[in-house]
Amino acid sequence: MNAPLIDPFARPISYLRVSVTDRCDFRCVYCMAENMTFLPKKELLTLEELDRISTTFIRMGVEKLRITGGEPLVRKGIMTYFQAMARHLDSGALKELTLTTNGSQLRRFARDLADCGVRRVNISLDTLDDKKFADITRWGRLAQVLDGIDAAQEAGLRVKINAVALKGFNEEELFTLQTWCAERGMDLTFIEVMPMGDLGNEDRLDQYWSLKDLRATLAEQFSLTDLTERSGGPARYVRLEETGQKIGFITPMTHNFCESCNRVRLTCTGELYMCLGQEDMADLRAPLRAAPDDTVLEAAIRSAILRKPKGHDFDYSRQKVDGQVSRHMSHTGG
Ligand code: GTP
Ligand code: 5AD
Ligand code: SF4
Repeated sequence: MNAPLIDPFARPISYLRVSVTDRCDFRCVYCMAENMTFLPKKELLTLEELDRISTTFIRMGVEKLRITGGEPLVRKGIMTYFQAMARHLDSGALKELTLTTNGSQLRRFARDLADCGVRRVNISLDTLDDKKFADITRWGRLAQVLDGIDAAQEAGLRVKINAVALKGFNEEELFTLQTWCAERGMDLTFIEVMPMGDLGNEDRLDQYWSLKDLRATLAEQFSLTDLTERSGGPARYVRLEETGQKIGFITPMTHNFCESCNRVRLTCTGELYMCLGQEDMADLRAPLRAAPDDTVLEAAIRSAILRKPKGHDFDYSRQKVDGQVSRHMSHTGG
């Protein structure tokens, strides 16, 4: 392995999130505008190129790969990429291969994913109410996602549910979700909405609901034990002693997790974003295509990591919140 990737704040970079497509079969109201223009398919890196970049990062010390989108499972031929990444699990270079998905395609792919060495998946689900689900996703069918979750569990995948808290929309639902997840042995992470991308008619400030109240209400009903283990990820976890469930809270506005950040994000066109909450990115496509070996690419990755900023500056106290970061969450897959 080459010298590990260390950023200017002495944080080792061991986690790469790879967005394999900007497309999605849903249009969640906090994630995308209803009418999105997607990239022409010819702009996308090929699956072989995604393999080459991912493999280069693994050689440089990345131990965890999370595949994202858009919705990663709508990318044509995506199982070929998962199968290719499985070789790094087999060699021991990669400790975890995982994905974040909306669940709609899991009935079709869960078993293949498990066969590739995927052990757990994060699935987005903000409500268990059919009508609200259709409203949030703009046209998604809840039954399809619930069936996908069943398929994942049947295939032996551990499931963590991600639920974005939306003011005036799903506050009560979040408790129903917690009980539902407990019954199915699933962990659950609640997420505060982050100001990324213009949403057309939707207003971020109208959507934002701090998770403080939710945590306080949970504390009235359960004994919460703070879990101190840190994965370098944004969530703070508690255990609900009565259910044994692990509950995460992602609260970028109130809790700054950036000091232990271990991750960077690759888009499907080869842009490398060093921080979710900043605009700066480095192009890896040109260095990738510059030479058949990986020396130019490695140098580009090293110099990009030196640009990793201290953290995001999401801030709801400003007058204009929408588009604080102009790209949509789906561009980098969160
Ligand atoms: P694990 O901890 O490995 O289960 O995953 P995760 O929670 O890091 O990833 P996931 O894809 O499930 O993302 C959950 C939420 O966390 C999404 O809203 C992401 O946008 C957000 N998120 C992930 N990484 C970061 C980060 O570095 N900064 C911020 N602000 N949000 C992040
Ligand atoms: N703020 C917070 N989370 C978001 N997600 C999508 N858009 C946003 C946003 N603006 C979540 C999805 C998914 C994960 C990748 O990011 O619900 O769980
Ligand atoms: Fe698609 Fe996920 Fe964005 Fe919803 S949050 S539109 S499921 S990428």
